[in-house]
Amino acid sequence: METLHSDRVRQLAHGVREDAIAWRRHLHANPETSFNERETARYVFDQLASFGLRPYHPTPTSVVASIEGVFSGRCLAIRADMDALPITEETGLPFASQTPGAMHACGHDGHTAMLLGAAKVLSALRGELQGEVRLLFQHAEELFPGGAQEMVDAGVLDGVDMVIGTHLWLPLTSGRIGIAAGPLTAAPDTFSIEVLGRGGHAAQPHLTVDPVPLAAQIILALQQLVSREADPLRPAVLSVTQVHAGTADNVIPDRVTLGGTVRTFDEDVRKLFERRIGEVAEGLCAAFGATCTHRYQRGYRPIRNDAAVSAALAAALREVLGEEVVEEAVPSMVGEDFSAYQQRVPGCFFWLGSRNEAKGIVYPHHHARFTIDEDVLETGVAAFVGAALHLL
Ligand code: NI
Repeated sequence: METLHSDRVRQLAHGVREDAIAWRRHLHANPETSFNERETARYVFDQLASFGLRPYHPTPTSVVASIEGVFSGRCLAIRADMDALPITEETGLPFASQTPGAMHACGHDGHTAMLLGAAKVLSALRGELQGEVRLLFQHAEELFPGGAQEMVDAGVLDGVDMVIGTHLWLPLTSGRIGIAAGPLTAAPDTFSIEVLGRGGHAAQPHLTVDPVPLAAQIILALQQLVSREADPLRPAVLSVTQVHAGTADNVIPDRVTLGGTVRTFDEDVRKLFERRIGEVAEGLCAAFGATCTHRYQRGYRPIRNDAAVSAALAAALREVLGEEVVEEAVPSMVGEDFSAYQQRVPGCFFWLGSRNEAKGIVYPHHHARFTIDEDVLETGVAAFVGAALHLL
């Protein structure tokens, strides 16, 4: 839209910089975990109402508001997730979590603050806005089955033409944008296996069916699915993250339970793991006289960015933020339930870099010392506002 120059968008975003930092710090100090975001949702609701909007709760802990331009047009949804993680914070920041066992360790506090900033700016720009911007403040991104699907089921995408969202991203330098069409995040599936042997005296293994060496073989054999059975040109990760067995040094236990996660982009590779993990466990157990039970749980779908929306959004971000800060996104094997929106409408999810070595902001997502570079909050506001003006 020619009526709004990129300089002005950046100025407007800069104008809410201090607000965005204050909102982010309030949310950071008061984290709530997935599906428990009651005070967070109330706080967001009150801020939106103070901008003259009419927010509502499509589910108990999510918030949606619409900004309708004076000119008719299409509808763009912008999503920010709001939930924290069950981690005890160790940053020592003055606005650190006041709730032991809960922490914004993924940056969702920043996402919420950036979308509030965009809401404030866009509310004041109604007279120049075409179509509708729908703000989706989503609960429970971190916990399967996730808040996105619940919001979709509640009808928040009715009448929406496209959806965008971002994640503050530590692998990327502060202020940089990573955006690309195609796959961006993986399907985060989980699995568990229970190896059932027959315990006994540790000095008489021949009288038992020892599930421990068997579980060790299963763990190693599962890696062989990645290295020998999955197509090497199609990424796959299998991590065994839980091993539980035994109660004493001199007792062979009856059972070992294993748990872990599989990350894939491709449906065929995903199906391979879904089938073969159980087959490998059963085969090895049968070979040594044990049995097993196993379960494979499908998680979120992979994010697959729409080509047209991604191209339009990338062009808007180059225009607003500068050619030099936008680069081709590197996909990640993390999971993101933004994909639930993309099953309904075309969309694009992009990375917003927030790593700053000079400020010591280097800890990875989900770490007890994770934090974000607050300088990028206004960048995120500018990105959302610019997207609204250019895409509609
Ligand atoms: Ni996250």
